[in-house]
Amino acid sequence: MLEKLKDLELETLVKIEQAENMDQLREIKVRVLGKKGELTGLLRSLGCISAEERPAVGKKANLLREELENAIKLKEQVLSDKMKAEKWEKQRFDVTLPGRPVLMGQKHPLTLVMDEIKQIFLGLGFQVVHGPDIESDYYNFEALNIPPEHPARDMQDSFYITDQYLLRTHTSPVQIRAMEKQAPTLPVRVIAPGKVFRRDDDATHSPMFHQVEGLAVDYEISFADLKGTLLLFVREMFGPEQRIRLRPSFFPFTEPSAEVDISCIMCNGEGCRVCSNTGWLEILGAGMVHPRVLEVSGYNPKEVTGFAFGMGVERIAMLKYGVGDLRLFFSNDLRFLRQFG
Ligand code: PHE
Repeated sequence: MLEKLKDLELETLVKIEQAENMDQLREIKVRVLGKKGELTGLLRSLGCISAEERPAVGKKANLLREELENAIKLKEQVLSDKMKAEKWEKQRFDVTLPGRPVLMGQKHPLTLVMDEIKQIFLGLGFQVVHGPDIESDYYNFEALNIPPEHPARDMQDSFYITDQYLLRTHTSPVQIRAMEKQAPTLPVRVIAPGKVFRRDDDATHSPMFHQVEGLAVDYEISFADLKGTLLLFVREMFGPEQRIRLRPSFFPFTEPSAEVDISCIMCNGEGCRVCSNTGWLEILGAGMVHPRVLEVSGYNPKEVTGFAFGMGVERIAMLKYGVGDLRLFFSNDLRFLRQFG
């Protein structure tokens, strides 16, 4: 009988040792220690052996039960540690791998230029205001002293929505809107950036482009204020050496009116291909607000004066960054756009 126990001990310890997973271990436990297990069976048969042998065999059998239970517990621990380790191994990652770069967006060159223009005029005490892209005939033309049939309309052929509404051809209607809103308080000092639309399409014209309008109305605003403001703007934008030149021009909503040129930023006024050998580049239209425009907007032209200007953002961006074709700004080629910002 003792021998049988010895055999069972060895045999079971080996099996426990060899168990590869929890299921196998549980099976061994049931087969040996369970209610109908081998050891349990041996203990039951104690009755059949002699009285002298019984205590020694009983003792041995109980020790064996304990021993096997402990061995199983130990193995359980080993297996569960192994399972955990395997699980971690699966989840492990290499912290030394190079990261996947996140593609960062950046501002469009036109937005950069717009931001810069805004920043300069904010510094001069101007406020940023906005008007609608779809504008009425009244604000886009009539209120700006451009009656129907006026030849100035020909230069700003646009996209009409109805007879009365069109895509605005310039940001000047925002002059009227800003004054109507604020009249009669002074001073008015606003810039109005935004999209404008014209029936034009070539290397230097796009059917949609951007302008920034400027307007200042107050007592005793003079042409010198206009020129000083524009000179300061141009020097902030293109550098402290810049000069400007004002040429007489015509706009129905300003009187007098001027086209404003800056000294060529490529040749510094020497004359080159970019400025067609003139040494000057045209960048904006400007003038003193026409008395009629002040009047329709709620100001008394006998008491107050004002200046206004309108600049093309694409034109300024092309000069600033040396871009030869305006259409590049709108064709969404990342190779082009990534060069800014
Ligand atoms: N609105 C004019 C244009 O688009 C520019 C301008 C604005 C001229 C303000 C004078 C004053 O051509």
